[in-house]
Amino acid sequence: MNTKTYLIIGGTGGIGRAMVEQLVSAASKQHEPPVTIFATYYKNVPDFEGDNLHWLAMNICDEESIKQAADTIKQQTVHIDWVINCAGLLHSGAQQPEKALRQVETDFFLENMQVNALASLLIAKHVKPLLAKAKRSNDKPAIFATISARVGSISDNQLGGWYSYRMSKAALNMGMKNLSIEWGRSLKDVCVVVMQPGTVNTQLSAPFQGNVADGQLFSPAYSAECLLEVLSKMSAAQSGSFVDWAGESIPW
Ligand SMILES: NC(=O)c1ccc[n+]([C@@H]2O[C@H](COP(=O)([O-])OP(=O)(O)OC[C@H]3O[C@@H](n4cnc5c(N)ncnc54)[C@H](OP(=O)(O)O)[C@@H]3O)[C@@H](O)[C@H]2O)c1
Repeated sequence: MNTKTYLIIGGTGGIGRAMVEQLVSAASKQHEPPVTIFATYYKNVPDFEGDNLHWLAMNICDEESIKQAADTIKQQTVHIDWVINCAGLLHSGAQQPEKALRQVETDFFLENMQVNALASLLIAKHVKPLLAKAKRSNDKPAIFATISARVGSISDNQLGGWYSYRMSKAALNMGMKNLSIEWGRSLKDVCVVVMQPGTVNTQLSAPFQGNVADGQLFSPAYSAECLLEVLSKMSAAQSGSFVDWAGESIPW
């Protein structure tokens, strides 16, 4: 019997943790096919466990760390069916997203590019052999998804600001579109997706929740549930999509 295998990057973040918890909960209720969940953490050490859950340390800014985690997974399984990258950066202790050009600083810009854009490419590079062996079930593709952001849409940009975050998410979107074209030739059964999770109540959005309209601030659990549902309906033909939590297409 085929095991369904997940890899969640950033499994201790707001949305990532909610995803891991939901997959663990679903796995405990569903015995066939068996489910294995690999989840990664960086600074926040995980404080929960599950029967089918395996935690791995991974710094997505360090290619060797990504490779090591992938190698550890390869010792335990020959395939992964879904990879979801939930890691991301909007602000750090010292830096907030820029309101104006004068606030743009090289180190913060490059950190955004590394965490939000480059990391997904490097993760794809190292998990490709595992995705290549994914088992198709009921004609459903394997998944390589990254949580992007609507503010990475160039055509949707009406407000400006947040140079580093917006540019890094736009770069992520281009990278994943590129990857969908490459894998459309070499890895046809993998659907590459970038997603907008809604405005979600996590530490990432906490300083910016003031202007969120009533009812528009999602819990991490709700967002994760919606994103997982959208991914479960994806077809291989939809590879290269930029979609929101409801499955609606977002213009590039
Ligand atoms: N929240 C929102 O409203 C919202 C809206 C649009 C898009 N998004 C996107 O959704 C994704 C998840 O955001 P969130 O709200 O869940 O944020 P969060 O709670 O701040 O979680 C961020 C995650 O990124 C991980 N991370 C950061 N730097 C890392 C590194 N160098 N190596 C490995 N992991 C690293 C963190 O790991 P540790 O916890 O281990 O440090 C954490 O798991 C992000 O890509 C964000 O841009 C969020």
